[in-house]
Amino acid sequence: MRPISGFSKLSKNQKIDYIVENFLDNSSFAKDTITSFWHADEKSQKILDEFSENTITNFAFPYGVVPNVLINDKMYCVPMVIEESSVVAAAAKSSKFWLERGGFHAEIVDTKKIGQVHLIWEGDKQLLEKLFIENKEALLEKVAPLCLNMEKRGGGLLDLRLEDKTDLEKGYYQLWCEFNTCDAMGANFINSVLEALGQEFKMVVESNVEFDEEATASEGLQVVMAILSNYTPDCLVKAWVECSVEDLNDLSFGMSAEEFAQKFARAVRIAKIDVNRATTHNKGIFNGIDAVILATGNDFRAIEACGHTYAARDGQYRGLTDCEVVDGKFKFSLEIPLSLGTVGGLTALHPMARTTLDMLGQPSANELMMITAVIGLAQNFSALRSLTTTGIQKGHMKMHLMNILNHLEASNEEREKAKIHFENEVISFKSVRDFIGSMRNYQ
Ligand code: MEV
Repeated sequence: MRPISGFSKLSKNQKIDYIVENFLDNSSFAKDTITSFWHADEKSQKILDEFSENTITNFAFPYGVVPNVLINDKMYCVPMVIEESSVVAAAAKSSKFWLERGGFHAEIVDTKKIGQVHLIWEGDKQLLEKLFIENKEALLEKVAPLCLNMEKRGGGLLDLRLEDKTDLEKGYYQLWCEFNTCDAMGANFINSVLEALGQEFKMVVESNVEFDEEATASEGLQVVMAILSNYTPDCLVKAWVECSVEDLNDLSFGMSAEEFAQKFARAVRIAKIDVNRATTHNKGIFNGIDAVILATGNDFRAIEACGHTYAARDGQYRGLTDCEVVDGKFKFSLEIPLSLGTVGGLTALHPMARTTLDMLGQPSANELMMITAVIGLAQNFSALRSLTTTGIQKGHMKMHLMNILNHLEASNEEREKAKIHFENEVISFKSVRDFIGSMRNYQ
């Protein structure tokens, strides 16, 4: 097939026709499926279309909620956008368990964000450092207008340094910048400041250095790139639960509270020392975190990238949670960098992101960091609780049964009978289909 040119200029219907004709066997069913997910209201659809390019429809994910999430004595109902069955149920189960034990606790450790201008300078190191020191104030003045609004809100550019990285790469320096972006995620603000700093520093250096006539661009100060870092280890939040070991007592564990606490803590330690387990352990934490972030219109890729780097900060990838069982006390905690925003970006534009923030009581970015970390912790608690007691399949299979019943378009009566029948039977697509089939044949 020949490549198409000017695809982005086609209307939405033309794009769909092109795709259906060339990649979907001209199937009218495929076309109907695509268009069936268009928003009924044209204005709303236009908003969604314009978040991205070449939009032909919407991809629907379930939007669920976790009630009874008590954090620092305040009650929340937390929305989660996730397709994986049992994640919301797990968070809800965990929230209920901890509601009866004082709820979740959370605090902000710090809120610093980072940006870098990556530079190459193959000239005299002392000269570059001298020019930086002499012109630092002028650089800050240059970006002051860009920082004005953020400063009015209590944030801004906190620190600007020249870092020597020449031991890593010949001629490599960085302008290292630290920011407070208040309730905004702040990517546009940070990147604008960084680009301005890079241009200005280049001008300062090059106007102070004499080049001979044959000098090439690479002999000056090269700005390789100016961009925020998604690694924000100092934009950190801590969430935890605690109670006496005795209070962990729960009949469904099938073991004593003390045994459960020890087994649970061991599972957390295993995720600290074994990289395979650590990856799955953290995946479970991000089941919760990503789902809240998606519901708020924040950037879950940035948060994932940062969280995984943080998990490997000492050179080995490790589980992100910690558990202590000391003097009859159980404490389970999660410390995680979460650079989130509650103003700007999609948070105000996406109608459901706006609704999420309304449902959460219009939280500040700090409050949202705490809520999100709590759901990550809740998720991990539920996963480890199942893994160390009944095993994970019991809960998963219940959801699997629901998916199969949906696929088979089971009636309410068939569903109820299937739920009872499969309480102690192996659930597979075939066994459920046979069971439903036998009921239908019998009638
Ligand atoms: C499944 O999505 C997540 C778990 O595998 C997490 C874990 O093993 O801790 C259940």
